[in-house]
Amino acid sequence: MNIRRVGILTGGGDCPGLNAAIRAITKTVITDYGWEVVGIHDGFEGLLKGKSRELAFNDVSNILPMGGTILGTSNKADPFNYTEKEGGRPYDASNEVLKNLDRWKIDILFCIGGDGTLKIAHQLHKKWPQIIGVPKTIDNDLLATDQSFGFDTAASFVTEAMDRIHSTAQSHHRVMVVEVMGRYAGWIALMGGLAGGGDIILIPEIPFNFDTVVEVINERSKKGKRFSIIVVAEGARPQGEDYTVKRMIKDSPDPMRLGGIGERVTEHVDKNTHHEARVTVLGHLQRGGSPTFFDRILATRYGVKAARLAEKGMFGQMVALRGTEIVPVDLEEVASGLKLVTPDHPLVITAKSLGTSFGV
Ligand code: F6P
Repeated sequence: MNIRRVGILTGGGDCPGLNAAIRAITKTVITDYGWEVVGIHDGFEGLLKGKSRELAFNDVSNILPMGGTILGTSNKADPFNYTEKEGGRPYDASNEVLKNLDRWKIDILFCIGGDGTLKIAHQLHKKWPQIIGVPKTIDNDLLATDQSFGFDTAASFVTEAMDRIHSTAQSHHRVMVVEVMGRYAGWIALMGGLAGGGDIILIPEIPFNFDTVVEVINERSKKGKRFSIIVVAEGARPQGEDYTVKRMIKDSPDPMRLGGIGERVTEHVDKNTHHEARVTVLGHLQRGGSPTFFDRILATRYGVKAARLAEKGMFGQMVALRGTEIVPVDLEEVASGLKLVTPDHPLVITAKSLGTSFGV
């Protein structure tokens, strides 16, 4: 195959490290292979609507420390279930994608994204094989890779927030509840909570009991601990209950947005213990800003490896971190589900060894 031009898109929620990955792919393919690069705007939406621009070497200079994505992103457009035309009814618009790839003379497409984007990439690969995936997400819930970039920055931010919450919790003898992102997977709450010394960690994978939360706080009080910190993932649920939904997004392939469980836990603690309680929702602060040292290196290694796979013609693959190595894995494996925290995960056991409760 005679490769001359490649396309790059970033899809789904943004996260720190996307620009580092775009830069690494672009610089490697221009310098080492002499290929041209097309940056597609706003993920699959740009591929459907024909929005793109050329990316030259200088266009990716100075973007390494920048948060977000210079290409823009969207989590609304799924070409296989497109809802923008046809009266809002989902239909298969993937031929539009193929037309634009052809029009832009793109030989290979790099899809940088989380589970939604990579599932679409996998479907597209069956119609148009020359796809390579790069994993990003602050949630760290992608199968087949030990870590996606964005997670380290988000969990580091949560850790810093917990340190700040700690001092005010201690001064006022309060229970402070910190709500973090993570709809289905509790990695941010678990690891941010562990690093920030949370007393109670509530995650989607371990439905909790309100009474246990109260008991743990009362037990701590009896031992002379006059404050407590609870980290709660937005997807954490009381036993027997469903998610706390904040809104449903119209025309989205992934419509459910969560929020409010932190407030519920806070009210319960406030009413049922002798402590005043307050909630802090960290929200999109976890996703914004500059990537950490770790995420810059990981995104850069992923980008370079993705370019190498492209040169070898290894399509339908995603770059993944396994131990200390960056390796190719089948997109099929990535698209088959989500990586969740298991109740007997070593980090759950470690937290329990320190007396941290999971509310059960
Ligand atoms: O998948 C990343 C994530 O940040 C989730 O943790 C969160 O629930 C969701 O995206 C929020 O998405 P939005 O961009 O619609 O606010």
